[in-house]
Amino acid sequence: MDAAHAVTASPRADTPIMRAPILRARGITKRFGHVEALRGVEFDAHAGEITALIGDNGAGKSTLVKILSGVYAPTEGTIEVDGAPVSFGSPADAHALGIETAYQDLSVCPDLSPSANMFMGREAVRPGWLGRLGFLDNASMRRDSAVAFQKLKVALKDMDAPIASLSGGQRQSVAICRAAMWAKRVVFMDEPTAALGVVQTARTLDLVKRIRDTGIAVVLISHNMRDVIQVADTVEVLRLGRRIATMPNKNLSVQDLVGAMTGALDAAAGLAEPEAVA
Ligand SMILES: Nc1ncnc2c1ncn2[C@@H]1O[C@H](COP(=O)(O)OP(=O)(O)O)[C@@H](O)[C@H]1O
Ligand SMILES: [Mg+2]
Repeated sequence: MDAAHAVTASPRADTPIMRAPILRARGITKRFGHVEALRGVEFDAHAGEITALIGDNGAGKSTLVKILSGVYAPTEGTIEVDGAPVSFGSPADAHALGIETAYQDLSVCPDLSPSANMFMGREAVRPGWLGRLGFLDNASMRRDSAVAFQKLKVALKDMDAPIASLSGGQRQSVAICRAAMWAKRVVFMDEPTAALGVVQTARTLDLVKRIRDTGIAVVLISHNMRDVIQVADTVEVLRLGRRIATMPNKNLSVQDLVGAMTGALDAAAGLAEPEAVA
């Protein structure tokens, strides 16, 4: 890891020595009417690494994630997956390329079991008699879910009860494991610990690291700078729709991150204050 970081820390020029990112975005601009949410943003995610995406409210984090996961089309800019240009027409296009998103507790269905949640929207169907009466293959979904939970060392107290009966942290684990189970390349997590207590947050961060260790690229949005310092390999900073800094997570302090987010470090880093939004 350290050798890899030394490479990341080198200038961002595309020298052959740099590892190719699994996901690469260049010149991403997004306008909503007169609001320019993103302005010429560059973003890379690497396999087996956690990239934290930080920035104040309104910096453009969620908009960038939505563009990179097929929810929004960019107004300008290009996206490459494994070096090939892609154009997502919908989240399904991103899913097909192994790109998944876990939202803060919102995307799970409380009335369903863990395995039903894992397969929500992509249920395994077994062909019935003469192929006409397809039915849900609950046994195989349950089995595959159990394997996914086991692989990520998530122990749920009940695999059959509706997940409404689980703690907030366990529900969040289900949402994250679902994204990880389907992701072949990249998992985006938008504030996964925002609603969790201290112990549940620590468990969730461990889970995020285990997912990274399976070789997937993890992109973590978080407001908690200590969480970011604890798990990130690289920190990307957005401010007012611009990518303002990319920092390998080496000896970073909370003050470094807050300074980059708010602009306090600009004088030291020689960065100009971004123009006001028109
Ligand atoms: N659907 C939308 N329509 C209009 N403006 C939007 C929309 N989504 C986001 N914005 C604006 O884009 C900017 C970035 O928002 P967002 O990506 O949600 O920031 P963050 O996630 O960093 O808080 C904000 O000014 C926000 O008001
Ligand atoms: Mg947001």
